[in-house]
Amino acid sequence: MVFLSVLTPVLAVILCLVIGFMLLKPREAASMSTGKPASKSENFRPWVDQDLQDDTEITAREDEVGDWMDSSEEDLPHVPYSQKRYSEEMMLQRSQDFYTLMNDRRSVRFISPDPVPREVINNVIRTAGTCTAPSGAHTEPWTFIVVSDPEMKHQIRLIVEEEEEVNYRHRMGEKWVHDLAKLRTNWIKEYLDVAPFLVLIFKQTHGILPNGKKKTHYYNEISVSISCGILLAALQNAGLVTVTTTPLNCGPQLRLLLRRPANEKLLMLLPVGYPASDATVPDLKRKPLDDIMVYI
Ligand SMILES: Cc1cc2nc3c(=O)[nH]c(=O)nc-3n(C[C@H](O)[C@H](O)[C@H](O)COP(=O)(O)O)c2cc1C
Repeated sequence: MVFLSVLTPVLAVILCLVIGFMLLKPREAASMSTGKPASKSENFRPWVDQDLQDDTEITAREDEVGDWMDSSEEDLPHVPYSQKRYSEEMMLQRSQDFYTLMNDRRSVRFISPDPVPREVINNVIRTAGTCTAPSGAHTEPWTFIVVSDPEMKHQIRLIVEEEEEVNYRHRMGEKWVHDLAKLRTNWIKEYLDVAPFLVLIFKQTHGILPNGKKKTHYYNEISVSISCGILLAALQNAGLVTVTTTPLNCGPQLRLLLRRPANEKLLMLLPVGYPASDATVPDLKRKPLDDIMVYI
């Protein structure tokens, strides 16, 4: 009896905790499904898609909030916009022509040393970056570093090859090496010395305003990736080739070598030039339209 009377308050407390927990759970679930935040701290980065969470978004904490400042352009005027409207036949022709052009794009790892006019590089980067690519809240979170200096290209090659050798030999495991085998790639990257231009694209994880405050760069990785896609199309249109590379673990060293600030992270490295006269590419097949598109 004595034992039971001691146990009763303990059981009552446990029961209260279980009921409280059950009552709280649905509220949390509801706030998640409506997208409405449950508390101020959870509300801090509402634009971040949980699915896309990685280290690419800003990492400001609430105690740093004074270092940040956001848009002062609320009164931005809006101006009329129109675009040339083509006939349906013309649209069909243009879409077919663009497809034909882009269908010839390949990742080329054998690049000619022949010089490429600098103004062409300016134009393709202008196309990718200065006005045509969209960016989250129009933050334009990209920096394009164009390297033509032979010594600097060689320094880049040394860094990339050293890290890539470790990636291939140790870091990435058998499956990764096996999946890449058909491409016949390895850690030797001759094109880094040979290509007339290397374009290194950095995403800015945040901006720095003239007053030193930080500016949020929403969806910076997606924005820069779109810009890179436009850059690839512009290169193809100009008759140049590249290979999209994402040199793993090289970012910090390359950032230091190129004297880029800490808010810039290397997203892609593109060697750019004409294809070498003896260039080859793997005979890859692409998925047909029916496999990739669903009309609803
Ligand atoms: C995000 C991304 C990363 C890539 N990284 C590398 C890379 O590090 N090295 C490389 O040789 N190719 C790289 N590639 C190129 C792919 O291997 C190539 O696009 C793919 O094999 C299809 O060939 P294609 O571009 O000729 O159609 C990358 C491509 C993408 C989209």
